[in-house]
Amino acid sequence: MEISIIGAGYVGLVTASCFAELGNRVICVDNDLIKIKKLKKLILPIYEPGLKELVKRNVKRKRLSFSTSIKEAVDNSKIIFIAVGTPAKENGEPDLTGIENVAFQVAKHLKSYRLIVEKSTVPVETGIWIKRTIQLNNIKKVDFDVASNPEFLREGSAIHDFMHPDRIILGVESERAKELLFRLYQPIKAPILITDIKSAELIKHASNSFLATKISFINAIAQICEKTGADIVKVAEGIGLDKRIGKEFLKAGAGYGGACLPKDLDAFINIAEKLGYDFQLLKVVKKINEDQKNFIIKKISNALWILEGKTVGVLGLTFKPNTDDIRNSVSLQIIEELKKERVNIKAYDPKGIPKVRKLFKDIKLYNSPYKVAEDSDCLLVITEWEEFKNLNFNKIKRLMHQPLIVDARNIFDPEKLKTMGFQYIGVGR
Ligand code: UDX
Repeated sequence: MEISIIGAGYVGLVTASCFAELGNRVICVDNDLIKIKKLKKLILPIYEPGLKELVKRNVKRKRLSFSTSIKEAVDNSKIIFIAVGTPAKENGEPDLTGIENVAFQVAKHLKSYRLIVEKSTVPVETGIWIKRTIQLNNIKKVDFDVASNPEFLREGSAIHDFMHPDRIILGVESERAKELLFRLYQPIKAPILITDIKSAELIKHASNSFLATKISFINAIAQICEKTGADIVKVAEGIGLDKRIGKEFLKAGAGYGGACLPKDLDAFINIAEKLGYDFQLLKVVKKINEDQKNFIIKKISNALWILEGKTVGVLGLTFKPNTDDIRNSVSLQIIEELKKERVNIKAYDPKGIPKVRKLFKDIKLYNSPYKVAEDSDCLLVITEWEEFKNLNFNKIKRLMHQPLIVDARNIFDPEKLKTMGFQYIGVGR
């Protein structure tokens, strides 16, 4: 099929290259000229495992192309996905000017039937606004449909998640839209749920809020574990074996970050407020997540006594492993707080360094975990990259000023480290 994706961010770029891989002809559009110029030269703006190869292969096969022209997209595709960013405004509301602008542009160039699909995470009822905007600016009165097809992929495993989703949600208003999307998704083996547009939009809000709730719940249980001497890793395992609960998203640690969960939660609390519902549960979920950072900082200060002048070696800067994304990274938020206490920070991350170097000029960055450990009073692991799990701890112990490890993601075996002579501090254990 001939389709377009407007927006070449994480969701847009992955969606475009995966649909191309499935055999469709895809145009990926973005208004950032430099980004599109680079993409044409196969230089990607983000790191996502496997994405570069996928883009390369499909550009070569002429199934994937890049453009800054929405007109080109509308002229050449039956289905147009909107995957532009919806950054949070200061009051927590998502900024939808990007979406409105795309709707307006699409309307201006409509010549024959098109299906416009919202894929960005948007407030419930945005679909209606997209429809109204297109109707008002659709001078030739061309037939069109609007649909909602929320995306659930996670950064770091985005291609796998796109190709093997747990479910596909299609919020549609006509048989025609339903059939087009069915055809497009036919090669992907996953249950398809057909809903109205508003329900599809709400499914996305509710899913991300539920995931955030699971994380804050387990972080709250971790507090109780610490106070009683229980082990959160075992407790989470025991809870997760109940099929009704499930074992995913029950890792206690430093709390959730990233471009989605914090922003989506704020947006949902805000939407509920506007609809006249005080979503107290989600407000507490947010509060627990914010407190979790302070809880980690407290662990460091309890172990180091005086913070001023001490050196903390930080392993992990991205908001999660297997990405270079540092948006809302808990690691960077903790570093900022430690810097206020005049702690010297040394840091390492397998993929995050270029973005951190650009935005946080005053963090000392090193190219190996061992350089970070050297002369540190505390080694703080805050993003659970695989390479941190197999460090040479004998070497680390020799290099550190004092052998203290704060494992904010519970990735190490406490007994092993204690036997080696480390002071080990985890979360909820
Ligand atoms: C999330 C949703 O999972 C995805 O469905 C949605 O489309 C976009 O938002 P993403 O932000 O890429 O995806 O990452 P995710 O894997 O959900 O992790 C979010 C944050 O939660 C990370 O900071 C991670 O470290 C944290 N997390 C996750 C935990 O603290 N504990 C867990 O058990 C799981």
